[in-house]
Amino acid sequence: MHTTLPITMPSEQRQKIRDDYYATVIDSVGDGVIVVASDGRITLCNPAAQEITGFSQKQAQGAAFDKLFSLETTLIEMLAKTLRTGITISDHENVVVRSTGRITPVAVTCYPLLEGSGENIGAILTLKDITYIRELEAAVRQVDRLSTLGTLAAGLAHEIKNPLGGIKGAAQLLEREFEPESEMLEYTRVMIRETERIDHIIRELLELASPRSLKLAPVNLHKILGDILLLQNQAVADRDILFIKHLDPSIPEIMADEELLTRLFLNLICNAIDAMGQDGRLTVTSRVLSDYRMAQNERHSRMVVIEVADDGPGIPPEDLENIWTPFFSTKSTGTGLGLTICHKIVSEHRGMIKAESDSGHGTKFTVLLPLVR
Ligand SMILES: Nc1ncnc2c1ncn2[C@@H]1O[C@H](COP(=O)(O)OP(=O)(O)OP(=O)(O)O)[C@@H](O)[C@H]1O
Ligand SMILES: [Mg+2]
Repeated sequence: MHTTLPITMPSEQRQKIRDDYYATVIDSVGDGVIVVASDGRITLCNPAAQEITGFSQKQAQGAAFDKLFSLETTLIEMLAKTLRTGITISDHENVVVRSTGRITPVAVTCYPLLEGSGENIGAILTLKDITYIRELEAAVRQVDRLSTLGTLAAGLAHEIKNPLGGIKGAAQLLEREFEPESEMLEYTRVMIRETERIDHIIRELLELASPRSLKLAPVNLHKILGDILLLQNQAVADRDILFIKHLDPSIPEIMADEELLTRLFLNLICNAIDAMGQDGRLTVTSRVLSDYRMAQNERHSRMVVIEVADDGPGIPPEDLENIWTPFFSTKSTGTGLGLTICHKIVSEHRGMIKAESDSGHGTKFTVLLPLVR
C-alpha cells in the first residue's frame, strides 16, 4: 500500500497514513493479537483480543502483561520464554482465559517480535477462541459413548434375552401352581415384574444403540404437549401439582417424528413431576426464536423453543454434568436412560437440548427444534 503514496507528501503525513493502515490490518484480524514489548508491557491489543480477554485497549495499553493477566500463568510462562529465547511457542490444548469471568478456551501462539537486524524487541501473542471446537468435541464424545454403548447393548441384549424369557416363562408357570391365597404367589409376581423391568431396560438400550430413520411428518407440538399434560394431570390428581401452559399459538406444524417427540416431552415432564414430589408448579412454554445460530458459520435459522420448567429441588451442580450420561440416576427405580434418550431424539432432529438448574430453585429444560416445514 505504501508504495502508492506520492513522494511529494510530507513524511509525517506518510507515516500517519502507514500507521493507520497497519492498525486497520491488525484490527481486522479475526484472532486476538496482543503485542508485548521486551519490558513486558503491552503495546497493542486488537478488538478480537479485547473481546476474548474482556480488557479494553485503554486498560491493556501500557499495562504489565503479567499483572493484567495474573490468573493466566500458562500465558505468562509462554511469553517469558519467547522474550527470553526468541523462539515461537504454541499451545492449542491447555490454555483458558478467565479474565472476563467466563472461561474461554483458546489456542495460543507466541511469536518473537524481531527487528530487521534480528534483535528480539518483544513478542506477539495470537489467541484463537476455540469454544466452538470444544463444544463440537464434547458432542462427538457423547456420540462416541453412545456408539460404544450401542455395540455393548446389542451384544448384551442378545445374551440376556433368551435366559430372561426362560425365567419369566418359568415364573409364570409357577404362578399357576399356587393357590390364590398362597404367600408364594407374591414372590412369583415379583419375579415376573422384575424380569419385565430388565426387559424394558434392554429395549431402551437397544433403542439408544440403533441408528434409525425418522418417520417425518407435519407435527403439531401443542397437541403433543396438551395430550401429555392431560394424561399426567390425571396421574397426579392426588397431589397438589399445577400445570401451566404458555404456548405461542403462532407456532406452525414442524416436520418431525411424532412418536419420538412424544417420548421426549413425556420424559422431561415425568422427570419434573418426579422431582416435585407432593406439590409444585410445572410450566411448559413455547415460542419461536428467529435468527438462532446453531454453530459458528452455519446459517441463521428459525427454531422452536420449548421449555419444561419445574420448581422442584433442582439438580446440584456436580450432578448437572452427568444427567445425560447413560444410567445416571438418583432415583431408586430410575434406569437413568430417560435423558440420554431425550438427547438422542433431539440430536436426530438437528436440535439442541440444555438443562439449567439451581439447587433449591427448580430446573428448566430447553429444547430447540428447527422450524422446517
Ligand atoms: N426436573 C428435574 N429435577 C431434578 N432432577 C432431575 C430433573 N430431571 C432429571 N433430573 C435428574 O437427572 C437424573 C437422570 O434423569 P433421567 O431421566 O435420565 O433418568 P431417571 O429419571 O432417573 O430414570 P428413567 O430412565 O426412568 O427416566 C435423574 O435421576 C435426576 O437426578
Ligand atoms: Mg427420567
